Amino acid sequence: MNSSIEKEIESLRQKILDHDYRYYILAQPTISDGEYDRLMHRLQELEKHHPELAAPDSPTQRVGGRVTKEFPTVTHAVPMLSLSNTYSEEEVRDFDRRVHDTLGAAPFHYICELKFDGIAISLRYEDRIFVQGATRGDGIQGDDITQNLKTIRSIPLRIRPVRSAPRTLEVRGEAFMKRADFQRMNEERQLAGEKTFVNPRNSAAGTLKLQDSKLVASRPLNFVSYFLRSDDMELTGQFENLKLLHSLGFPTSEHSQTCRSIEEVIAYWQKWEQQRDELPYDIDGIVVKVNSLRQQELLGAVAKSPRWAVAFKFASRQAETPLKAIRLQVGRLGTITPVAELEPVFLGGSTVSRATLHNEEYIRELDIRIHDIVIVEKGGDVIPKVSGVNKEKRRAGAKIFRFPDTCPECHSKIFRFEGEANYYCENSDCPAQVKGRIGHFASRGAMDIEGLGEAVIDQFVQDGLMKNCADLYDLHDRRENILSLEGWGEKSVQNLFTAIEESKTRPFSRVVYGLGIRHIGTSIAQLLVDNFITIEQLIAATETDLQSLQGIGPQIAESVVRFFADQHNIRIVHRLKAAGVQLLEKKKHVRPSQQFSNKNFVLTGTLSSMTRDEARQRIESQGGKVVSSVSKNTDFVVVGADAGSKFEKAKTLGIPLLDEQKFLNMLQNES
Ligand code: IVH
Repeated sequence: MNSSIEKEIESLRQKILDHDYRYYILAQPTISDGEYDRLMHRLQELEKHHPELAAPDSPTQRVGGRVTKEFPTVTHAVPMLSLSNTYSEEEVRDFDRRVHDTLGAAPFHYICELKFDGIAISLRYEDRIFVQGATRGDGIQGDDITQNLKTIRSIPLRIRPVRSAPRTLEVRGEAFMKRADFQRMNEERQLAGEKTFVNPRNSAAGTLKLQDSKLVASRPLNFVSYFLRSDDMELTGQFENLKLLHSLGFPTSEHSQTCRSIEEVIAYWQKWEQQRDELPYDIDGIVVKVNSLRQQELLGAVAKSPRWAVAFKFASRQAETPLKAIRLQVGRLGTITPVAELEPVFLGGSTVSRATLHNEEYIRELDIRIHDIVIVEKGGDVIPKVSGVNKEKRRAGAKIFRFPDTCPECHSKIFRFEGEANYYCENSDCPAQVKGRIGHFASRGAMDIEGLGEAVIDQFVQDGLMKNCADLYDLHDRRENILSLEGWGEKSVQNLFTAIEESKTRPFSRVVYGLGIRHIGTSIAQLLVDNFITIEQLIAATETDLQSLQGIGPQIAESVVRFFADQHNIRIVHRLKAAGVQLLEKKKHVRPSQQFSNKNFVLTGTLSSMTRDEARQRIESQGGKVVSSVSKNTDFVVVGADAGSKFEKAKTLGIPLLDEQKFLNMLQNES
């Protein structure tokens, strides 16, 4: 065995684990993502060539790989109890009274924590190494999901070597998904025609149950710890345990708090009831724990829950209410979305009278019928949705909803794309689509035209003043018509014209977004104009050109090409151009740098850290140029693996050669 390789491997592992800790636990990274990737890459390479040096706690294990058929069962060393729930001040005061009664005159205090709405898991460490992770299961036995848990970056694979730290221990906590990550993931799944998850909690639960840990690695799971058990040292209290967990490298919540009276507990609950939406993840209450472990022992447990802790839950954001009708809404892309008309119900701070039902399949799967008593749910920042039915309360008259076969707005045929759940109206002149497209063009993220709201668009479309977004820029010819409409006067017309005029200064990316091409959000629009800097270039782009950009897959590429293949859209683009709308990217982000500026680069062979296209972009972004063949005018040749004749030619001409590392250093120095 080569001991210098062994040393390098161990040093890389230690470094990476250390950077994980800085990034995930301290939130203070000290190296760039690129440098981190390079360390990981090097470690992967070494482990590949020296399989005998593989180790279960190597950070390379985070990528997953092993596919299991069934999870083995694990018996918990100490049962994983659950908490009894309280919902009111009165109930929580009862809990406090019981604690006082048992502990007598002895002083004590509580630790209040957030109640994370995720999945409880247990992690076992032996000799500082993560050896087994399990679900709670029935509290006595759970599933061994070690491989899946290894992919969660905030779960340490090794305990940090702090002085007098326990080496063998069990940590419990919650695996969860942040709301933003959940939403992003769901959007991607929808685009890919896959089933979406109902909420972050279900999403975390579904992910942990996957048998393919590679898939788990691709999902954005997090972990927070709140329990520690070890025979290696004397533990004293929950607060001390949380501190110790943090120093051992486990993520803990920064919002845990010592409370010296039940009044303070109630104040903590009130604070988080109000501020819960500001957290990036869901919580469904707080957990109140007697701090001292000795006192916890004195209090003991009843049945399945301890008497030293209680959950103090928030009022539910779920409610039951009758479903009066199902209305169909037609969007700008022709999507027909069923919307539930509800008997108004007070939910999470506001009255809800409408909620989305997503699509026909969703209604069928949940077996939702008109006049049913449905369950409405409201999350932190999502629109209300119907999440279920109370079937026990189903009335005899409840009617199954039949999706029509024509558009509810224009009565044209409706259709479905293969593998998609949504129905679409096929008529692009459908008034609902027309209004939706103009509304999108005028919206804040696009051309941001003040005063052109839904009602005005309805009025203008109805009166035949406009059919598409290009018509907006001809409205000045219809001044008299507008003035004759109800609610319009000289001043309001002038304001609208000024706002329309002003929209001509919006950057190209906003226009591209405003065109309303399917699947093109603001960030993809930006990516497009960064690479195709005029509308002509974008129109001419083929699916292959588009797909060569990182972040653009076949679906988006096809959608862009299809949009510009439609002559109707091309005519609109020409009219926008004639009106003076920005159809080219003015500032190309070039940051000229000494080593790159006006230099000719040739790329040959394969780079391991980036694609050829990325390399080209990075060279160009610093003012360099990439040319295809080597000549005496070439300044540098970047040589990747398996380089061919260009490499030979560069050597004969004596052109400076850059291997991947040198090239990366050069980029690094400049950025
Ligand atoms: S302590 C005996 N602390 O709530 C103590 N649990 O109903 C049990 N939970 O299964 C756990 N946040 O999934 C504890 N800060 C927290 C928690 C928490 C969420 C969950 C956990 C547990 C359930 C108990």
